[in-house]
Amino acid sequence: MTTQSKKNTPELTKIAKAIAAALSSPESRLGKVIAITNQKGGVGKTSTSFNFAHYLNELGYRVLAVDLDGQGNFTELFFNQDVLTHFVHTPALALFSPGIVDNFQPLAHPSGIDVLATPRNSHELNAIDSLPISVAEVFFNNLSAIAEQYDFILCDTPPAPGVRTTAACASADYIYAPVLVDTFAESALEGVVSSIANIGQIIDADLELTGILINQIVLDGTKDSQQQYDNLAEKIGSALIPTPIRQSKPFARAQRQGVPVWHLRTSGAERQASLETRKAYGEMAIRIPEISKDRVKYFTHVSRRVRAKIADEARG
Ligand SMILES: Nc1ncnc2c1ncn2[C@@H]1O[C@H](COP(=O)(O)OP(=O)(O)O)[C@@H](O)[C@H]1O
Ligand SMILES: [Mg+2]
Repeated sequence: MTTQSKKNTPELTKIAKAIAAALSSPESRLGKVIAITNQKGGVGKTSTSFNFAHYLNELGYRVLAVDLDGQGNFTELFFNQDVLTHFVHTPALALFSPGIVDNFQPLAHPSGIDVLATPRNSHELNAIDSLPISVAEVFFNNLSAIAEQYDFILCDTPPAPGVRTTAACASADYIYAPVLVDTFAESALEGVVSSIANIGQIIDADLELTGILINQIVLDGTKDSQQQYDNLAEKIGSALIPTPIRQSKPFARAQRQGVPVWHLRTSGAERQASLETRKAYGEMAIRIPEISKDRVKYFTHVSRRVRAKIADEARG
């Protein structure tokens, strides 16, 4: 890793400088909205949202993470509950009332990611799903008002095709769905695809999934597991993110530590998970035309420590 980064130093330093310049220039934010969705629970929406938010942040983009699930799991990966009660902040719930921009105070995570948080078991946020669909427009207007402060606003959604999911997907420039390979994979996939099409009809636009990520796959070397994967991959077609993410222990370990999976690289399983998630998230990222391929390459080939050092030097 170190030898490779030394060899590429001039090119990499150029990229690092570009990242540092983009970060210090508030005028040039991309303002794109990303939704991570699937009407099923337990498929990996929250894990994908958390890891992908960190991935984009480490590519050098300004990221706002939005927790739209009343369980508040996404929030808990960033902060413990004390933080929510001790600091004044704008909760994700505020996105459904007009005028969020007037007093906008997201929680700032040490990684650099801003968070619109949701406390554990928020009945108030869940209750948004019983409001008329017109609140989706309030949500959209609020996101539009704060979008210029960020490159990416990444929304984790609840496991239901309700008002919040509709609002997030209707406002999104890019939509990703994690799916499982199991007995019901086919009907689940049809469910995801048709719910996105339905939301498209509501807003009279051609909504499409930017990418479908196969998550928590168990490839045990048997013909059966390979066959299941192949069938699903074929059914997904061009939306497929080519690298599937395997079911592995480092996911839970990283979540307990509140870090993305690639920050753990001690054991063999951790290095494997690190490699495979960086590859899969890179494949997700390059489906967003605004994301520079240089940044993805830089992230893939340079260690975190070296990246931080080059960025520091470039900044100042
Ligand atoms: N690739 C993976 N390997 C192992 N466990 C995973 C993986 N992805 C997610 N998990 C675990 O599965 C559970 C459900 O994931 P989560 O992201 O909360 O799903 P959702 O938000 O769709 O309900 C969590 O406990 C999470 O840690
Ligand atoms: Mg979740």
